[in-house]
Amino acid sequence: MLSDKRILLIITGGIAAYKSLDLIRRLQERGAKVRAVLTNGGSQFITPLAVGALTGDTVFTELFDREAEHDVGHIRLSREADLVVVAPATANIMAKMAHGLADDLASCVLLANDKPVLVAPAMNSKMWSHPATQRNVAQLKADGLHFVGPNAGEMAEKGEAGYGRMSEPLEIVVAIEDLLSPKDLPLKGKRIVITAGPTHEPIDPVRYIANRSSGKQGYAIAEAAAEAGAQVTLVSGPTILADPKGVETIRVESANAMLAAVECALPADIAIMAAAVADWRVAHDSNQKIKKDGSGLPPALNLVENPDILKTVGHLQDKRPKLVVGFAAETNDLIANARGKLERKGADMIVANDVSPENNVMGGDNNTVRLVTHGGVEDWPKMGKDEVARQLVQKIAELS
Ligand SMILES: Cc1cc2nc3c(=O)[nH]c(=O)nc-3n(C[C@H](O)[C@H](O)[C@H](O)COP(=O)(O)O)c2cc1C
Repeated sequence: MLSDKRILLIITGGIAAYKSLDLIRRLQERGAKVRAVLTNGGSQFITPLAVGALTGDTVFTELFDREAEHDVGHIRLSREADLVVVAPATANIMAKMAHGLADDLASCVLLANDKPVLVAPAMNSKMWSHPATQRNVAQLKADGLHFVGPNAGEMAEKGEAGYGRMSEPLEIVVAIEDLLSPKDLPLKGKRIVITAGPTHEPIDPVRYIANRSSGKQGYAIAEAAAEAGAQVTLVSGPTILADPKGVETIRVESANAMLAAVECALPADIAIMAAAVADWRVAHDSNQKIKKDGSGLPPALNLVENPDILKTVGHLQDKRPKLVVGFAAETNDLIANARGKLERKGADMIVANDVSPENNVMGGDNNTVRLVTHGGVEDWPKMGKDEVARQLVQKIAELS
């Protein structure tokens, strides 16, 4: 959940500081990178050595530090984080934050900060309920800071109980995950089936008919759709590419196998058929390697038409996805061919590209596409395939 997220943990001077050592471990277990700032108060309760041993990084303690400040460390620290967490947060640090004081490294970092802040207060229940503290909390909430806890329970002071205990490390982790989990993703909750790559149509056990498709564009679309929150199934012909992150990838060889895998992956909200499916296959592929027969004549390859996957999906009765997108790789009459495909195949959009050899699209890293819909044609400039994928996903999110 927190893979590669950078957390700046500010530990201030409360008894609960020992729990922050456990918090560091829990965050690291989830893939987060943790850096720590320790106040003078904090270092009365836990040592910079213990914190640094856990974070595996410098522990920042001093504002006027010649080493850290040669590149203005108090500004840089929050710039290099995704989230600032103050745990435990003393009554003192909350008062300083609420009033904009900046008299040590922690308060300076918090004032110079432009990242979200999560505060985990920890203090005696009388300190927590004091009107001054409550005013400061209200001010900080109004300033947009996030809070977790405090919880009710026994205090460190014998016989005292009430609100003021710091939330447990795992509760703080949940609050952090909630703050850092992407919201409002344009394709959240959508199921998408994508095809990519070529197909291989067997002639015999060692030979096949193939094409030059690398699968790069379809894989980039699958990754961009997953990043946009969609649940993606990628049905891929043979490629040398690694499975895209966050995508269920099903690998097939032939057009028939690709159609079967697509049908299995339905129902879906959106289908993006980017694979370069072979139009023909050998009617009866040999289960033994075909040998020269000495006549000097090549073997006759009797070809039959493959199923048209885009057309099949575009004309499904019950399971037709709401949005069906096809690709047209053409070397001539690009728009006329794409318009024809749009009608014949029952698609909502055709992404047309000119795959003439001089454009180096097949296998290359760039693409110049034209989007053909029933509403008209949109010309896109030459872009990297990753960028085409991102913009296409944006477009699809608008249409779906
Ligand atoms: C033994 C002891 C325990 C303390 N525990 C807390 C505490 O849990 N919460 C709190 O707000 N202050 C606590 N304090 C007071 C703070 O350490 C004090 O306000 C300090 O100035 C905080 O500095 P800092 O916010 O810069 O870390 C405690 C003080 C002592 C001596």
